Amino acid sequence: MHLLKVKGLSKHFGGIRALEDVSFGVKDGAIQSVIGPNGAGKTTLFNCLTGFLRPTKGSIVFREAEITGMPADRISRRGISRTFQNIRLFRDMSVIENVVVAQHPMIRSGLLQAVLRLSGFVREEREVREKAFEYLEFLGIETLAEKSAGSLAYGLQRKIEIARAMATGAPLILLDEPTAGMNPQETEEMMTIIRNLRNIGKTIILIEHDMKVVMGISDRIVVIDHGVKIAEGVAREIRNDPLVIEAYLGKELH
Ligand SMILES: Nc1ncnc2c1ncn2[C@@H]1O[C@H](COP(=O)(O)OP(=O)(O)O)[C@@H](O)[C@H]1O
Ligand SMILES: [Mg+2]
Repeated sequence: MHLLKVKGLSKHFGGIRALEDVSFGVKDGAIQSVIGPNGAGKTTLFNCLTGFLRPTKGSIVFREAEITGMPADRISRRGISRTFQNIRLFRDMSVIENVVVAQHPMIRSGLLQAVLRLSGFVREEREVREKAFEYLEFLGIETLAEKSAGSLAYGLQRKIEIARAMATGAPLILLDEPTAGMNPQETEEMMTIIRNLRNIGKTIILIEHDMKVVMGISDRIVVIDHGVKIAEGVAREIRNDPLVIEAYLGKELH
């Protein structure tokens, strides 16, 4: 069954056609990758899927319901969560607090955190903290729970972002270049984390520039170039596709 269906999706910025008539489906429980050269429109696609941008045209159906043009907070509540290409964390808050606030739609902004403390939600907060700790354990960063998020290395901050995405409880998680800036060992770890996410029942859409990661992990791959889908299939099909080879020739892989 398709958890997500994207049909004829376009996003224009003035004269720039960042996405043009893109269609694809994502099966429940799949790891679906989106690849393409730098500037192809991948992040724009995520921004449309998560309500950070309003599509110019087309339709997005999630769990059989139309979500096209809904604001980000509503889409998040319906069960689509994401990480960012440029990490977005509360740098001055501890690692675990970052995950705690992600669990509650009302306090995801961090603004109502103080209110929660004051207003008899103390027990609930303890349960929320325990849950947050479990997410950190899942990512293998529980020993860093009390460290300030901004003080940690890039690779660790990316793991916190994933813990935050898990904490929303969303069944669909969008990862925007989760291995960017990682060394080979960290990249290996990230691949294991992504597989583990799938093993606990999450569906993943992955934007990834590391071809080894993409080819090794994806159930299916969509290739975008200049905002247009130029190929779709399993790794073997994508690797041998002339349009894909041409799109990548002499270009920085991103
Ligand atoms: N908010 C925006 N306003 C104007 N142009 C944008 C905006 N976001 C992205 N673009 C343009 O859309 C195109 C695709 O960008 P992006 O989705 O970030 O590509 P990718 O993630 O594949 O590298 C680029 O030409 C980029 O400059
Ligand atoms: Mg991008």
